[in-house]
Amino acid sequence: MSVRDRVRENESEFIGIRRKIHENPELSFKEFETTKLIKAYLDDLGIENHPNGEDTGVIGILRGKKDGPVLALRADIDALKLTEKTGLPFASKNEGVCHACGHDLHTAVLLGTAKILKSYEDDLCGTVKFLFQPAEEGLGGSRSMIKNGALKNPVPKYILACHSWPEMPAGSIGVRYGAMLGASDTFKITVTGKGGHAAHPHKGIDPVVVAAYIITELQTIVSRRIAPVDSAVITVGHLEAGTVSNIIPNEAFMEGTVRTQDPTTRKKVAVYMEQLAVGTARAMGADAKVEYNFGVGPTISDHHIVDEISAAVTETLGAEHLLQVPHASMGAEDFAFYLEKVPGALFRLGTYDDRPESKWALHNPSTLFAEEAIPTGVTAMVASVFKINGCDMSVLK
Ligand code: NI
Repeated sequence: MSVRDRVRENESEFIGIRRKIHENPELSFKEFETTKLIKAYLDDLGIENHPNGEDTGVIGILRGKKDGPVLALRADIDALKLTEKTGLPFASKNEGVCHACGHDLHTAVLLGTAKILKSYEDDLCGTVKFLFQPAEEGLGGSRSMIKNGALKNPVPKYILACHSWPEMPAGSIGVRYGAMLGASDTFKITVTGKGGHAAHPHKGIDPVVVAAYIITELQTIVSRRIAPVDSAVITVGHLEAGTVSNIIPNEAFMEGTVRTQDPTTRKKVAVYMEQLAVGTARAMGADAKVEYNFGVGPTISDHHIVDEISAAVTETLGAEHLLQVPHASMGAEDFAFYLEKVPGALFRLGTYDDRPESKWALHNPSTLFAEEAIPTGVTAMVASVFKINGCDMSVLK
């Protein structure tokens, strides 16, 4: 029996897992029931598993009967603070919490992958580590997994993850060489002037006007200093100054986010922002202090691993199921923290079907995810493990 058929035989079970998780979504680091469900499922399969050092999350380990490298597979398990509006029969029963980013599908795909790989353990080369990670949405879960030793004992050679994508049809797998997701950094700029009466601006230094110049000029970093073929986003999302109409305040404050794809561009934006804010303020007689915080880096896939996933998908699902993702998303993903330590790749799981709401964005409370993505994801994951670890692919045919 082919891997595709073996997955099909279990499809309703995997979809059932997804619905159960969907019905009981849990916030970051509070995924207690989800963790219990994962652990119970791995126990039933006879797959060794351990806590990850936090209260939630699980690490499973499956040792194949043949020699080979260690490969880690990661699924994020947390949900969002959002009230679900899908009207599905298995919609969230937890008020104000909802799986609107597809992490319920990712968890079901990884549990399905564990079951199918276990059924192939005689032919499986090397070891597979299943990282069921809490708190992706807070962007802290992968850091805590790494800190707690998820990438040790045994040390993985490569790491894989998948993420739902409403811009691609269900049944397809999307790959991309290079950046798949952006880096997400934040900044705070405090402009200090000299307060006074609004009628006598020349007796003070108006930080509001200085801040307004800085905000406008920040966009010239994107348009004039970053190469046109490269990408950057600078957004000031919070601006504050003063109290009433007739007083010039002492200070103006702004904060925002910077998204980039290229690691060099990422560093350049931080330098340019400092130059521009400090320089502009000084030119107008004020001072500016920039606090730049590097958050999560870009998710950049390893070329070799993208080749292996592509070959694995083509051999098991067919070339028509493999799509090239045209652009990186400027969204960020904390999978990038693993990629700083271990090479690997994140592939996309197409989730739209003929329902219009299935094409809506991630993090929208009405977005629907086509469940065909689950068997497709399991087949792609199992095949990629076989390919990357150098197992006999003919076993899957
Ligand atoms: Ni997500």
